[in-house]
Formats: sequence, C-alpha cells, structure tokens
Amino acid sequence: MRIGVFDSGLGGVSVLREIRREMPDASLHYVSDSAWVPYGPRGDDFIQVRSRALARFLVEHGADVVVVACNTATAAAVPLLRETLGLPIVGMEPAVKPATAATRNGKVGVLATVGTLQSARFAALLDQFGSDIEVLTRACPGLVEQVEAGDLDGARTRALVEQYTAPLLRAGVDTLVLGCTHFVFLRPVIEEIAGSGIEIIDTGAAVARRVRQVAESLGSTFARASGVEFWTSGDPAVLSAPLNKLWGERVVLSALPGEYAGRSA
Ligand code: DGL
Repeated sequence: MRIGVFDSGLGGVSVLREIRREMPDASLHYVSDSAWVPYGPRGDDFIQVRSRALARFLVEHGADVVVVACNTATAAAVPLLRETLGLPIVGMEPAVKPATAATRNGKVGVLATVGTLQSARFAALLDQFGSDIEVLTRACPGLVEQVEAGDLDGARTRALVEQYTAPLLRAGVDTLVLGCTHFVFLRPVIEEIAGSGIEIIDTGAAVARRVRQVAESLGSTFARASGVEFWTSGDPAVLSAPLNKLWGERVVLSALPGEYAGRSA
C-alpha cells in the first residue's frame, strides 16, 4: 500500500508521522509545496492548481490513497480532486466537532489560516457543530513561515503565539483547536503560553486512523517496501534541516520535477 501525502509546506509532516505510527508497513510519499507556501492568504483557484499538480505527481508515483495534510488545501481543493482523480482522497478540517465534546465552559478557540477560516467548508462546519458553543477564531499570519524555517520556540515564534492566543485566552476559551497542520509543531510553546487547564486539540491522529480504514477497505493488492520518501517544490538545500528536525531523523529531500513544481503546472 502506498500513501501519498501533500501539504503547502512542511506542516503536513505532523500528519505523516501519525500515519507512520498507524501504518508502519506502508510506503509513504510526502510532497511539500514550499515554493508556494503559505497557501493561507492565496485564492482558491491558485490552491486548486497547485493541489492538482501535487496530487498528480503522487498518483503517477503509485499512490493508492492521497492525503491532503492541509486544512487550507482541503477547504479549497478536495471536491475538485475527488472529481478528477478517481482514487480515495482523505482531507482534514479543524477539530470543531471534537472540541464540542472537550470544552467544559462552551468556549472554543480555533487557530487556523485565513483561507481555512474564510472557507465555505469552515462555515458549514460551524453550522453543523458550532451552534451550542461559542467559537472564536484567529488567523495567524507569519506562524507557518516560522515552522517552515524550523523555528519552533525562538523569540519571534513565541511572540506570535502570544499575540494570537492572548485575545482567545482573555475571552475565556478552555479549548484551543490547532486548525493548521503547521501549528501542531508549535504545540509545546502553545501549551506553555496557554497554561494548564487549556485543552489543545489537533486532528493528525484521527486523520491517520481514517487513512488506515480507507487503505484497508481497498485491500492491499501487492506489497510495496515500507519507507518514506520526500520531495519539495522549494529548495532542498534550505529545507533539509527543518525537515530533519520536524521528522525527527535525517532523510533525503529531493527536488520535485519542474513540471509539478509550479509556474507551468
Ligand atoms: N498547513 C496548512 C494548513 O493546515 C496551511 C499553511 C499555509 O500554507 O498557509 O492549513
């Protein structure tokens, strides 16, 4: 079974590590679109073009399932990918539903990108699950770039986390949803700044369980060697160190072939 995973950048590695935990024998391919990160402030059309190119690369390299390890790209492009690709696509969305069960005081904060928060998909999620609770949202410009640079707890990263969480904490939320896969890597700093008593929720483990269910429903027609391979549309020489840090071991990061990397894609 081969699982293809993509994100706007390195954030989806937080989902990839959950998939590896869930399916240690699967072959995993990961593509980071770091030449075009962040997706958050970009329009749907752009994100759709990029998502199609990345998904096509993964399918042409033998993916049986494609995972969109990005809340922003899921909101912008998953329906299109489902229409056009002809294989299972697993997307993700901020954990508003689990937050309704976790909150004790009915006040939930969601940290996500502008693209996710302004999407019709997020509005529908709030309509479905947010009516009995108060949901406060906060876009976090600049935080994705900190993770891309591998700066998970430096002064600027901390200042941004403080800036974005402070209004939510002042408003009394007792639950924070990490609605962007990059932010999962900032969890220790967010926990420290939010203090005890604040529940922090992300969706990586739930997405990985869903990926395993989908993979099992396909049945494994032939065995592939397990292992993980990484590509990026960005500069591998720049991104290797942050990737090694986020993945937790040294890996080879290859350049995505030009036809998938952008501009002409
Ligand atoms: N990691 C992405 C997400 O989960 C988006 C980050 C970005 O490119 O803005 O939303």
